[in-house]
Parts: sequence; C-alpha cells; structure tokens
Amino acid sequence: MFNSSIRRTAGHLFCDDIRVADIVAEVGTPVYIYSLKRALENYERIRAAFAPLDAHVHFSAKANGSLAVLRALVGAGAGIDAVSGGEVYLALKAGASAENIVFAGVGKTMYELYFAVQQNIGWINLENAREAELLNSIALTAGKTMRVSVRLNPEVHAQTHPHIATGHGGAKFGMTADAVLALYARRAEFPALRFEGLHIHIGSQLGDVEATCRAAQAAVDLARALPTVNTIDIGGGFPVAYKPDAAMPDVSAFAGALAPILAGYQVLLEPGRSIIADAGLLVTRVLYLKEQGGAAQVIVDAGMTDLLRPALYDAYHAIVPVYEANPDAPRRQVNVVGPVCETTDVLARGREIPPVAPNDYLALLTAGAYGMAMSSNYNARPRPPEVVVEPDGKTWRIARRRESWDDLVALES
Ligand code: LLP
Repeated sequence: MFNSSIRRTAGHLFCDDIRVADIVAEVGTPVYIYSLKRALENYERIRAAFAPLDAHVHFSAKANGSLAVLRALVGAGAGIDAVSGGEVYLALKAGASAENIVFAGVGKTMYELYFAVQQNIGWINLENAREAELLNSIALTAGKTMRVSVRLNPEVHAQTHPHIATGHGGAKFGMTADAVLALYARRAEFPALRFEGLHIHIGSQLGDVEATCRAAQAAVDLARALPTVNTIDIGGGFPVAYKPDAAMPDVSAFAGALAPILAGYQVLLEPGRSIIADAGLLVTRVLYLKEQGGAAQVIVDAGMTDLLRPALYDAYHAIVPVYEANPDAPRRQVNVVGPVCETTDVLARGREIPPVAPNDYLALLTAGAYGMAMSSNYNARPRPPEVVVEPDGKTWRIARRRESWDDLVALES
C-alpha cells in the first residue's frame, strides 16, 4: 500500500517528490509509474538482512523487465535471475555481467542453452536429466565448463495462491530428491558441467517462514550428500502487503530463520516481487459510471490487459484516488472494471472507494511486480507506457513509451 515513496500529501498522491497528477497530465492513462528509489531501498533491505549469510541477490526479471528498473538494480550491485533467453538478453542489455546472471526455467530450448554457454552465464539451473545432457554437449562443443545448480522440488506445500505454488511434488518444477541423486551419480558423464549448487523456489508471496525453512532444510540435507555442492539458491517468494491491514513476515524474519540452516553455504536469492511491487503503481482514468442489477460499476481505461493479476489470481490491489479532496467523504461499494470484453476483466470487486466521477484518476497500488510484465495486446489494446521517478526522487522520465496502433501491426507482413 502506501510507503515512504508512494504517499499522500495535502490530498495529492505522490511518487517520491513528484505529484502523480503531474505525470498523468503529460503522459495520459493508463500509465505505470515506478519509484526507483523505493526499488533500491527494497533491494538494500533484502541485501542487508541477508548480509550475515553473505548472500548474493539476483533480481527476478520476470517480475519487471523494464530496462530502467534492471539498470538501477544492476548498478546497485544486484545480479539477475532470468527464465528465458529473452530475459538473459535483457539482463545483459541492462549491464549485468554474465557471471551475475542465474538462468532458470523449466523448459529451456537448445538455442537458449547455446546462447547461455556463448555468453558464459554464471549459473544454469537444471530442471531435468535430458537438459543436463544437452547443456553438457553444447558446452563440450564450445570447449567450456558451465557451473550448474540442480533445482530440487522439496515437496513442500507453501501457503500461497495455488497458481503460484511450485514446491509440491506434483508440480512441473524441479526434480525430486531421488531424481537429483540419480543425476548427480551420473556426473562423470557430464565433464562440461560443474555441479556446485542446489536451487529451490517453493512459490511466490509466501506468508510462511516455516515452509521456506523446511524447503531450505531439505536442500541442505540433500546437499550434504553432494560433495561438490557449495551453494544454495533459495529462489524468491518474499511477500508484500497488498492490503493495508496485511501483516506479512518481514524479510529479516526469513533471513533470521534461514541463517542457521544455510550456514556454511554460499547463498543466492532471487527476489522479484519484494523489490519492485510496492515501488509501482498503475494509474487509470474513470470513463463511465453504470448502475444496474443492484451493482455499481466504475468503468476505467485500464483493464486485465494492463494488470492481469486480479483476473488471473483474484488478486487484491488497493485502489485510491490520485487526488482526494475530502478523505472523510462516505465510501461506496463498487466494482472497478476495465474495458476488455471479458467478464473477468474486473480490477476490484465490491470495493469501498470514495465517490468518483468520469475523468477522475485512480491509482492501483503495489502494481510494480507482474503488472506490465504480464500485460498483453488482447482486444488490440496498446500497452501502457512506463515512467520512472529517478533515485533522486525529484526527476522523472518515460522509460518506455506508450504503444501505438501502428505498433500493433508492425510485425505483420
Ligand atoms: N525464482 C523462481 C524460480 C521463480 O519461479 C520466481 C517466481 C521467482 C524467483 C521470483 O519470485 P518472487 O520473489 O517475485 O515471489 N505472476 C505471479 C507470480 C509468479 C511467480 C513466478 N515465479 C503473480 O503475479 O503473483
């Protein structure tokens, strides 16, 4: 929700020292706005919490692939967690050194593995035995050896939305402990691979420190049987508070509980959401109000094509006016809906918001992670622009321009 960067003063919503209304007046809506200051502070908080473990933080580019965001974090010392050749490319474009890139993903293609070998990517996270064979042969041909982590599926059920839980045995992610042991026993067949790490990631938006600890413990127990393994990559998953009253464990609670378990291992982290979610907002304009069938609909110019999370996960994003003259005005229960031709294009259902009128601006908060990253052109809707407020908090710029109708057809022949 609100924080040191996204805040309200004298009725106006601010992103650091910039009035959100001033950005909107120039750029229009819908628009994503990110506070780089907040993202860097979040990064620094995680880095400091895990400093006693000498952990290295790799920002998970899937949460937000804006080059401006990646560059800021890389500049502050972060590595990048990439899950496709495209994300490896983004990471390199953003200035990450190849050595500081972790390349994961359940279905990497031969070409993606080839690209990673060519670029000397620091860590490749393996997800199955066939992938090990493929990577080994590509690396042998290139005359290189690659450092790998094997992704363990720790068979731990995380308390999170089922769509973003990954650590249970039936999931497609990782390998069970038996499968990891069987692969490791064959390591002489893979002279071009250095088996130095184990990787886990049991899910995202984890409310539960204990489940994460159980997964880390499973990784350490297994690592003891793998003498060449010196590194545990514990993935991402630290939660953020989407609701004003949500009490989520702080990252230091995770760090404190994990420290004794992971002692003696080099630790890698892959946080995405906890770095960028609360640094970002999506601003939208009210188009129409509609009352029928006992429901009040506020129809806005952003929809599931811009922010998919409510439609896909029933996710909650706080919605606040960009300017609020009277904070005591009685609230009304409404649905805030987008213009897309889908019944699920609802940004908020039955939400109490202050009175609004057409042309008012509303901001969806905590939208910096998996917002723009999951946007689409469905209904031939151009994607919104991305604005960054620089780390000084005083200047802003358009980091990605609004797509045009011409952009929509640019790839067609
Ligand atoms: N590492 C791995 C292997 C992952 O699969 C993920 C997220 C992360 C790191 C970063 O996790 P984070 O720190 O952001 O929780 N679209 C969903 C979230 C999907 C997460 C997928 N994997 C959402 O909007 O909630």
